[in-house]
Order: sequence, then structure tokens, then C-alpha cells
Amino acid sequence: MSTPLTLIGLGPMGRAMVRTFLAQGHPVTVWNRTASRADALVEQGATRADTPAQAVEAAKVVLLSLTDYAAMHDVLDGVDLAGKTVVNLSSDTPDRTLKAAAWLAERGAELLVGGVMVPAPLVGADGAYVFYSGPKDVFEAHKDLLAAIGRPDYLGEDHTLAQLFYQAQLDCFLTALAGMLHSMALVKTAGVPAAAFAPYLRDNLDSISTYLDETVEHVDSGQHPGDLANVIMMGATADHVVGASESTGLDTALPKAVQSLYRRAVEAGRGRDSWTALYEVINGRS
Ligand SMILES: NC(=O)c1ccc[n+]([C@@H]2O[C@H](COP(=O)([O-])OP(=O)(O)OC[C@H]3O[C@@H](n4cnc5c(N)ncnc54)[C@H](OP(=O)(O)O)[C@@H]3O)[C@@H](O)[C@H]2O)c1
Repeated sequence: MSTPLTLIGLGPMGRAMVRTFLAQGHPVTVWNRTASRADALVEQGATRADTPAQAVEAAKVVLLSLTDYAAMHDVLDGVDLAGKTVVNLSSDTPDRTLKAAAWLAERGAELLVGGVMVPAPLVGADGAYVFYSGPKDVFEAHKDLLAAIGRPDYLGEDHTLAQLFYQAQLDCFLTALAGMLHSMALVKTAGVPAAAFAPYLRDNLDSISTYLDETVEHVDSGQHPGDLANVIMMGATADHVVGASESTGLDTALPKAVQSLYRRAVEAGRGRDSWTALYEVINGRS
């Protein structure tokens, strides 16, 4: 079924979503602060709105793909939003998301929060998925339309959930990417190209998910039996990574953050526990 929608925010992500909705036969009205970013999309069949108010007027469902929630306020302040469903697919903190839900409710609009879990080129591709949270009836009413950009995974009525899941995924992703670069920098200090190290690093990255099941068990039970890789042993290695980084002149902020978690776990008397006891430091319970 073809459903008209409005999409505001034409960065790489917004543009990819517009192209996907158009390809599936949905009429799309677009608006972007930098108007020229809509040119190619208009050639492909999108309708350009001259103002945010005109864009919002064009459809009941208004998708936002903006840098953050502050941009939503910049764009929608003063616009008549009564009766609209705003699907905000922009990243931000849970606090600001809750404030946005209240701000929209005061204006007679409902908020569905989304977190897109693929990069722009994979929008709409097999395996793409998007977290949603907010009123269930609103999600149910629009899930078929939203499925165009990726499998819609509904997390619950609490508006902050999609944002939390999104940030949690990015928490792991960004830290892992920074770790990957730091480890490449270490081998490159010896004049070794990253390409020579890559097969080993790939093997390492692939193996990380094999730790997941046991980690989940420890985190959910609060029990961290440490027969194999305990905090003292792993913490000594964390010290060595910092030492290697210092002696080779690399930036030490990332390995020192990891070292600090191990040190504080040891100070909290968890040295003989599994390395998963770091969770209790992160969680503020140790
Ligand atoms: N790109 C990805 O791979 C990816 C993946 C998953 C999730 N996301 C999330 O999707 C959202 C959009 O991503 P993107 O890569 O398309 O971001 P982007 O390049 O930062 O584009 C953001 C859009 O927001 C607009 N904007 C920013 N501040 C504004 C303001 N104050 N007033 C009006 N418009 C404003 C920009 O308008 P102008 O064109 O005028 O600058 C642009 O259209 C972000 O929240 C991002 O975290 C992105």
C-alpha cells in the first residue's frame, strides 16, 4: 500500500531513506535546511516543501533524520503539529528524548523514537533493522510503512528504549573501532603495515562474540566466577598495553581507561573474579 510521508533532514541517512521509500512507491515530501540537498531526490520523484510547515502539512507521518533532537526543535518550533505522528530517527540522549515526547504531546503530536542500526548505504537492505519505542498503537499503525527502511524492532512504550538500545550498540561499536585503530597503531610503530597484522586482528574480532553467552550469564546473575581469565591476570595485561603504548609514543587515553577499570576492580577485592567483574565497576556497584 502506498502511504504519503514527509521526511525532514537530508544527510546521508535521510537521503537513503527517501530513495528507499520512493523505490517502494510511497509519495515523499522532503525539506532540508540546505535546500540543494533535495535536488537529486526531487529528480527521483520526491516533492520539495519550501518550509518545514509546508512539509509537515503534506502528510500525517513526519520522519526526522537530523543530527540530534535540538535540530528537531529548531525545525519544528512554531509549526502546527496537531494530529501528526513524528518518527524521530535522530540520535540523542534518553533525557532529551523524553523532553521531546512531552514537547510534542503539548502540541498534539505523538512521538515514535527510532534508532537506525545500519549505515546509510544499507538502508532497506536485507538484515537492516531499526529500533522503535513509544506508544504501541502508533507503532502498529505505521510499522508496515517503516519496514521499507529496515525490519522494525519494537522495544516498548517507554520512549527512551530505542535511544538506549541504539546508544548501547554504538557504545560497543565506537569503543571497538577505536580499539582496532589503537592496536594497528601499536604494530605500525615497528614499521609493520596494518595489512600484515590484519589477519590476526580479524581472528581476534571474530572471536569476541564467543565471549558473549558467558558474559551475559555473569552480568545477569551478578556472579563472576573467575577460573580462567581473572581480573588480576587481565589487569596485568592491561598494564602492559599501556606500557607498550607509552614506550612507543602512542596516545594512551584508551588503554588507560581500560587499565583504570581493572585497577578499580582489584581495589574492590575482585582480583580473583572473572574479568566480567569489571561490569560491577562500570555499573557503580564496586
Ligand atoms: N549516517 C549513518 O551511517 C547513520 C547510521 C545510523 C544512524 N544515523 C543517525 O541518523 C541521523 C542522521 O544521520 P546523517 O548521517 O544523515 O547526519 P548528518 O549528515 O549530520 O545530517 C543531519 C541532517 O540534520 C540537519 N540539521 C542538523 N542540524 C540542524 C539544525 N539545527 N536545523 C536544521 N537542520 C539541521 C542537516 O541539515 P543540513 O543539510 O542543512 O546540514 C542534515 O539534513 C543522526 O542522528 C545519526 O546519528 C546515521
